[in-house]
Amino acid sequence: MTVADRVLVCVAWPYANGPLHLGHIAGAYLPADIFVRYQRAKGVETIMVSGSDQHGTPITVRAEQESVSPADVAARYHAEFVRSWEQLGISFDIFTRTGTSNHATVVQDIFLTLLERGHIYKGSMDSTYCPSCVRFLPDRYVEGRCPFCGYDNARGDQCDNCGRPLNSTELLDARCKFCGGPPEIRATEHFFLRLSAFTDELTAWIKDHPYWKPNVRNFTNQWLSEGLRDRAITRDIEWGIPVPVPGFDGKRIYVWFEAVIGYLSATKEWAQLQGQPEKWEEFWKQPCRSYYFIGKDNIPFHTIIWPAILMGYGGLNLPYDVPANEHLTLEGRPFSTSRNWAVWVPDYLSRYDPDALRYVMSINMPELGDADFSWREFVRRNNDELVATYGNLVHRVLTFTYRNFEQAVPTPGLHDSLDQALLEQAERSLARVGDLIEVCHFREATREALALAQEANRYLDRKAPWETIKTDRQACATALYVAIQVINTLKVAFGPFLPFSSSKLHSLLGFSGNLQDVGWRAVAAPAGQALQKPAPLFVKLDEEQVIEEETRRLSAMKPK
Ligand code: MF3
Ligand code: ZN
Repeated sequence: MTVADRVLVCVAWPYANGPLHLGHIAGAYLPADIFVRYQRAKGVETIMVSGSDQHGTPITVRAEQESVSPADVAARYHAEFVRSWEQLGISFDIFTRTGTSNHATVVQDIFLTLLERGHIYKGSMDSTYCPSCVRFLPDRYVEGRCPFCGYDNARGDQCDNCGRPLNSTELLDARCKFCGGPPEIRATEHFFLRLSAFTDELTAWIKDHPYWKPNVRNFTNQWLSEGLRDRAITRDIEWGIPVPVPGFDGKRIYVWFEAVIGYLSATKEWAQLQGQPEKWEEFWKQPCRSYYFIGKDNIPFHTIIWPAILMGYGGLNLPYDVPANEHLTLEGRPFSTSRNWAVWVPDYLSRYDPDALRYVMSINMPELGDADFSWREFVRRNNDELVATYGNLVHRVLTFTYRNFEQAVPTPGLHDSLDQALLEQAERSLARVGDLIEVCHFREATREALALAQEANRYLDRKAPWETIKTDRQACATALYVAIQVINTLKVAFGPFLPFSSSKLHSLLGFSGNLQDVGWRAVAAPAGQALQKPAPLFVKLDEEQVIEEETRRLSAMKPK
């Protein structure tokens, strides 16, 4: 089988109803960005698409709390997301919104096509209606006991304890979120996705993807074995994409049905912006591997519902892989927006560097199990690994060379076996980092790059150029030359993880142009190449000060 040299990186669409926290970044955006940067370096034609999820009750709940319009809420957080991506170096090819007319057109086309083919049908359903509030209640406005696991605070759309999606009418001892009273059940007309009809096709398709992560496969298989139920894909609300059928004016398309279609509509919008409106087809109709980077809460929407929509529509590529991450916890507790237990991205960025966060999250990514973020660990890894191991290696080699060898890469003599061994290891490490990223093993990939920096430090300790400068200038020049080539390799290997410091290092080494254009290989820094005046890549943090300050910040927001 030949693997297509084209990759589509799809990343979960964040609800534009509040700031992003570090859990979101570790869950989806950072792994997607590392992956896409690597693919681009390899020369694979790749785009990364996503956007703000602007519809649904998450947005209207916030708007009601603040007495502003849902559109205002969505616009505010969309702008904030875009700033965060830029500052964090999350390099989307397009980050759009579900509020565009392009998106509505694509969604309505899919809706009508599925309707025409009988994959969507009209039916009556029981819904929760609050007699004292005189309205149908959106799923999220109903709370009660989960019929599957018994959890007491399940919401009408899903149970946060067992992860199963729910219909609000299934909740036991339900209560209205507005008034606390008991809702009643009333019939209302909606459209349904005939999910049940896709069971066999989905089951065969999952079987065909043995390389998926076990957590993703297991979760999906469990869902399938419980039997798929048809799902209502319209709602009695006013905020969202209109149902393109007469008589449904007061209803909207369900947010989950339309948000996943965003991957397709965003690709189309991107193609239009490129001035090549047909180019989206290369990613959706021609051989192309599509990766969906999402948090684990979103698994069924990407491994069952979205594939079913695509199967029903026909002619478009199904997901190639869904490397969903587990959760990041904060100081041992789950991140929670509603309980205000979080480190917010704009807040982090106002105090610390993006690469420090990217590093700490990469080496401890919640890939196969949950991972914890703590400030003490953050400072320790920043100081001991990023600054002491990698940053100091770079800084001492560059300052020493700059001072003693006319501010340029020295001319080496013959390589001895130690030189040769290190240069070969650098080459092997770079290849291995790439192979690990290719299979989404980001933790190991980061460790591999760090191990090369450690090896280079050991090499320098043995070669001791600060000694040989006085006794054997040629040996000194050779050692520095070799160290510079290894640093030059580290720049590439760390590139997807630490894009800011890698491109800074690229310049410090005397290269002009963009690091992105170098590819996944280290083009040797030639003897005589002028170096830039060295400057440290990373900042050492004062451990006690950071802990004291951040602990104070967190305890101010601690849940009761
Ligand atoms: N907005 C959803 C969430 O934050 C994710 C949507 S992913 C999408 O959980 F693909 F459906 F857009
Ligand atoms: Zn009520």
